[in-house]
Amino acid sequence: MKTIRVKLGQNSYNICIDSGILSQTGQILRELGLNDKAVIITNPIVEKLYSTSLKQSLASKGFRTTTLFVPDGEEYKSLESAGKLYHQLTESGAERTTPLLALGGGVIGDLAGFVAATYMRGVPLVQLPTTLLAQVDSSIGGKVAVNHGQLKNNIGAFHQPKTVISDTATLKTLPDTEMANGISEVIKYAVIKDKELFTYLEKNLDLIKSLDDNALETIIAKSAQIKAEVVENDEKDMGLRNTLNFGHTIGHAVETVSDFEIAHGQAVAIGMMAMVKIAAKLGIIGPNIIIRLEKLLKRAGLMTRLPRLEVKQIMQAMQYDKKVQSGKIRFILPRAIGEVFITDDVNPALVEKILMELK
Ligand SMILES: NC(=O)c1ccc[n+]([C@@H]2O[C@H](COP(=O)([O-])OP(=O)(O)OC[C@H]3O[C@@H](n4cnc5c(N)ncnc54)[C@H](O)[C@@H]3O)[C@@H](O)[C@H]2O)c1
Ligand SMILES: [Zn+2]
Repeated sequence: MKTIRVKLGQNSYNICIDSGILSQTGQILRELGLNDKAVIITNPIVEKLYSTSLKQSLASKGFRTTTLFVPDGEEYKSLESAGKLYHQLTESGAERTTPLLALGGGVIGDLAGFVAATYMRGVPLVQLPTTLLAQVDSSIGGKVAVNHGQLKNNIGAFHQPKTVISDTATLKTLPDTEMANGISEVIKYAVIKDKELFTYLEKNLDLIKSLDDNALETIIAKSAQIKAEVVENDEKDMGLRNTLNFGHTIGHAVETVSDFEIAHGQAVAIGMMAMVKIAAKLGIIGPNIIIRLEKLLKRAGLMTRLPRLEVKQIMQAMQYDKKVQSGKIRFILPRAIGEVFITDDVNPALVEKILMELK
């Protein structure tokens, strides 16, 4: 088992990573002194796969549990779903001390987290992430949100969990496409902060894809550590967390223009390729980094080229991105593998040129 401590004063918590650790949830919650009633929030797919061992673990430590369902899908990360959950929580007698357990991917984590942040002005939240993306990214850091209108994550709060319990064994049932989404974020962490992680990925990607427990535990722990450090230095997202958006400015635009047909991790992979190419054109890094990144992304089953989309539309979509300040687009560029910097001084003509090259 690996444990990462997120140090946020009174809001500090542990991220526990291990194969099969869901079955220790009851024990972990007891040690945190949580109330003996618990509400599991999940979707039918994940419930079927993983709620039995979770419920057994909770029952064995004297917890009484209620399970609340949200249908599967990003479209259910909404105020309407939150409204239904508030109603069900009231019906089931949930109190201010009753922990909400988010069992699922980032959609469930963000929605249950949002509900936990707001129900009775805030109740305890426990993240039980079951996708790689949720284990390395969305379950850590306390950003919780729902989508509203056409906008993603625009109604939200900061609400840190009491703990994150990442069971690597749950990844065995995850579709390959979802696995690739998570690996994209892991590669992102390596490029922004950890050259050894990058080398580790180059050496062990096949092992990771074969879901080797040790390899999974290693990359999840390293990624969680990096996210934890960034969050510790910028809990409320005042600037430093920006580095976590490496590849995401173009990535979000690609997702939007593709009408969300291109998955997040795929779009971010294209965005990361664009960033290294821009950095190389500016003479900041050598061509070798482009070659290494492209090779790694391809092996992970990620896109490195821009499919069919119009470059002009992508440029336009970027103007609407929330990271645009005073009309300038902010980019995170690599200085080397493991080191990035933030700049709003990239000529849009260069961005457009690179996107054309990526077609
Ligand atoms: N809060 C944050 O800081 C943060 C960061 C990144 C992303 N996010 C959010 O996370 C969401 C994406 O999360 P995601 O990629 O986990 O998607 P997801 O939650 O939709 O899960 C992907 C799919 O996998 C299924 N699934 C989950 N666990 C499974 C398992 N173990 N076996 C089989 N199937 C399983 C889900 O039912 C779903 O169909 C987005 O809404 C995004 O905005 C939030
Ligand atoms: Zn992302």
